[in-house]
Parts: sequence; structure tokens; C-alpha cells
Amino acid sequence: MEFFLDTANLDEIRQATEMGLVDGVTTNPTLLSREGGDWRSRMQEICDMVKGPVSLEVVGETASQMISEAEDLTSFGDNVVIKVPLTTEGLVATRILYRKGVKTNVTLVFSALQALLAAKAGATYVSPFVGRLDGIANDGMELIREIRTIFDNYDFSTKVLVASIRHPMHVLDSALIGADVATIPYSVISQLASHPLTDKGLAAFKADWDNFTKLN
Ligand code: E4P
Repeated sequence: MEFFLDTANLDEIRQATEMGLVDGVTTNPTLLSREGGDWRSRMQEICDMVKGPVSLEVVGETASQMISEAEDLTSFGDNVVIKVPLTTEGLVATRILYRKGVKTNVTLVFSALQALLAAKAGATYVSPFVGRLDGIANDGMELIREIRTIFDNYDFSTKVLVASIRHPMHVLDSALIGADVATIPYSVISQLASHPLTDKGLAAFKADWDNFTKLN
């Protein structure tokens, strides 16, 4: 399973890259606005820093607005993936971009049927939002199971990109189900690395070594 970092923060991208954990990056208008500053230079820096795909989201409501934004956003680099919302206009835009050979990430997906439509339109990725579904007492991971089954039934090449990840169990379940990608906030990446028995074991090894070397 590929790991994308769900952020527009350059330090987070740098640190996760040093650990070899960044296969790509996803941004959205909220993440970019949280960082402040000039969004164009921020997008450029992210696209330059990251070797893999970088999702940049359109905000227009009509297909033609989305297409003209996509034309601008693709100028930031060859690794740009255009993030398009799952609306009827978004599906039209996805189809046009597919025909032009531009990669898309269809976002704000909350049902398996929406994912099926995105795949038929030619999306490169679909982004089902598991955390937001859990937040309204729906089962986010069940949605991932359904989408995986449908895409496998019909050999769709569209990749399942698990989004809105809140905790390590979302990452573990994504991997067990066979999602193609999980886009993970940096805070959750840090949680994945830590285990109390690792800390305890390390402290014991150090104490034993200190005692042993004192005696010699
Ligand atoms: C990623 O592509 C999505 O925009 C993101 O995971 C949404 O996460 P949120 O529910 O934390 O806003």
C-alpha cells in the first residue's frame, strides 16, 4: 500500500520523506489555507519537493471552471493530479481530463456507487472519506471493502485512496482490505511508529549495556 501524506506543510513533508514514507501528497483548500501565505508558491514548493503524485484541488463548480483551473494547476509539475469533487459537473470534468491524459483524484466520495461512477468516468484515484463517515455513525471501512470488491469485480484500474484518516486502525484496516493508497496526516504517521514495548525494550537494553560496560 502506498502512503501519501495528507498535508500542505513543508516541514511535515520533509520529515516523512526522510523516513521514506512519502509516496505522494494530497492537499485540499482547507489544508492550504491552514498554512497561510501565497498558495501558488506553496503548491510549487510541494510539487518540487515530492517525487510522487501531488493532488491539487479545483474549487470551481462547473466542469468548464474545473477544466480551466486544471490547466493552471498542471503547470506546477508533471506529478500534479487534479482533485475534482464527486458531483455531476465533477464527473464531466473527470471524463474530459481523462481524455486529455490528465490524472484525477475524485474526492468527497461517501458511497460505493459514487466510487463506481468515478471509476467509469476514468478517475485515476477515488478518495472515500472514512473518518467523516465514522463521525456520523457510518462505517467508513465498510465503504472501502465495498469499493475494493466492485473495482476487483470489473477490473477497474482506478485506485482506492483512503482519505480522512483519523487513527492507526484506519491505516491497518486499509492495508488488510487491500486499498491501493492511504493518505495519512503526519500526526497519525508518528503514532504508527511508536509502541510502548519498543520504548520499554530500548530502555532495558540501554540499562543492561550501561551496567555491563561499567563493570569492564
Ligand atoms: C484528502 O485527500 C482529503 O482531502 C482529506 O483526507 C480530508 O480529510 P479530513 O476529513 O480530515 O478533512
